[in-house]
Amino acid sequence: MNYLIGVDIGTSGTKTVLFRGDGEPVASATEEYPLYQPKNGWAEQDPQDWWKATANTIKAVLGKSGIDSREIKGIGLSGQMHGLVMLDAGGTVLRHSIIWCDGRTGKECEEITQKVGARRLIELTANPALPGFTAGKILWVRYHEPELYQKCRHILLPKDYIRYLLTGEFATEVSDASGTNLLDVPRRCWSDEVLEKLEIDKTLMPRVYESCEVTGCVSEQAAQLTGLAKGTLVVGGAGDNAAAAVGTGVVEQGKAFTTIGTSGVIFAHSDKVAIHPEGRVHTFCHAVPGCWTVMSCTLAAGLSLKWFRDNFCEAEKQTAAGMGVDPYSLMDQQAARVPTGANRLLYLPYLMGERSPLLDADSRGVFFGLSAIHTRQDMLRAVMEGVVYSLRDCFDTLKDMGISFGTMYACGGGGTSPLWRQMLADNYGCDVQTIASKEGPALGVAILAGVGAGLYPDVQQACRSIIQTNPAQHPIDSDSEVYEKYYRLYRQLYPSLKEHYQTLAAL
Ligand code: XUL
Repeated sequence: MNYLIGVDIGTSGTKTVLFRGDGEPVASATEEYPLYQPKNGWAEQDPQDWWKATANTIKAVLGKSGIDSREIKGIGLSGQMHGLVMLDAGGTVLRHSIIWCDGRTGKECEEITQKVGARRLIELTANPALPGFTAGKILWVRYHEPELYQKCRHILLPKDYIRYLLTGEFATEVSDASGTNLLDVPRRCWSDEVLEKLEIDKTLMPRVYESCEVTGCVSEQAAQLTGLAKGTLVVGGAGDNAAAAVGTGVVEQGKAFTTIGTSGVIFAHSDKVAIHPEGRVHTFCHAVPGCWTVMSCTLAAGLSLKWFRDNFCEAEKQTAAGMGVDPYSLMDQQAARVPTGANRLLYLPYLMGERSPLLDADSRGVFFGLSAIHTRQDMLRAVMEGVVYSLRDCFDTLKDMGISFGTMYACGGGGTSPLWRQMLADNYGCDVQTIASKEGPALGVAILAGVGAGLYPDVQQACRSIIQTNPAQHPIDSDSEVYEKYYRLYRQLYPSLKEHYQTLAAL
């Protein structure tokens, strides 16, 4: 029998899934780890935590399934994008990774724009310089931690650090490298011009592959640590969003998905490079060779609900633990009892600042309209609705670029909530559908591994034979009308607060 493994190195944890060659999941394991916020607006993680979680979850799925690891034909890696991992000459991690939702690099982004030129940067990398993307972080370390920068010999993205530990290779692939501000996105290779203008030595950067290409094999040492067979193929894999796209079959023109994970993303496939003139959405290479993607990412989607759960829902956490259920399912039930519009309460989900479609790392969360009649349940519903208004803002921005949406697929932890999906359908005004497999990014990169290992001729054909959909949820017109009014007000709140966010950040 043929098997494939998908490893998804996320922000809240790493999930490893063992699949049969036909995409059927056999065993799955997840291990969580902390997010460090040393300052307001900063976000870091320890790459060692990712590795421990990867090794443990691989061992766990092999143990649970009892299969012979030599039957695993390929491994795909998916990962949170943009994070900076710096290694010294001996391959040792030099500092915690500065991750995707960190907003400290405003000044460095201005410098990148000035050195490369705003138009030229978008021409070459398809995106403006954004806090959160990797290049600004490299410059930040160079300025603030020069001794450490001097020791740096390798720059990697989160999943590519795991690849290094599995195979010994310094490699990345086009979908994840697109989020560095250093890749020539139309030509799918590092941009010599940007690297030179920013004085970043190209030898620091890993080799770039297409996502389904083989990048190396599991080493003897990694085999001993994980239980994998030495020599197992490791393909490029993908940034988590491109991986989720493959895992939901968004690999053809006209298809799109929304994911509510820690971040919230709306993502559309594109057969050509489509760039927003003001850089309000991200244009990246797809994990499908010769294709690109446009996506918009609100930073605190699931993160908002997790923040609410951890700070206001102790009772639900305890009840859920007693009942052996997920606290989010209890929270979902409570939010469903509150009327649409949360009794006139709005929430702006900018807990980590925003970068798309709002470009403002200084923006922060707001409850607007809080009254003495409101309860914790109203606030909970307002949080869920606010995340959806932010996603609608992303959706409208993509629509304004001429992207058309047929069915929207939903995935990520939040995509498992029927209430959240209904809110998406009502706000987008289109059907929202899930696919039968719940494994999203892990399935996506397992599919890429299947292509790399020769089990499938290409990504589209693999998706066609593996992915099956569930029935769609349709918009409810009466709720759409109510949401529309709140959404219009939501859109007015950020412009009236913009200036005050800057004042707050300067305090
Ligand atoms: C995309 C982004 C996030 C991360 C974390 O640009 O920053 O979706 O990949 O999941």
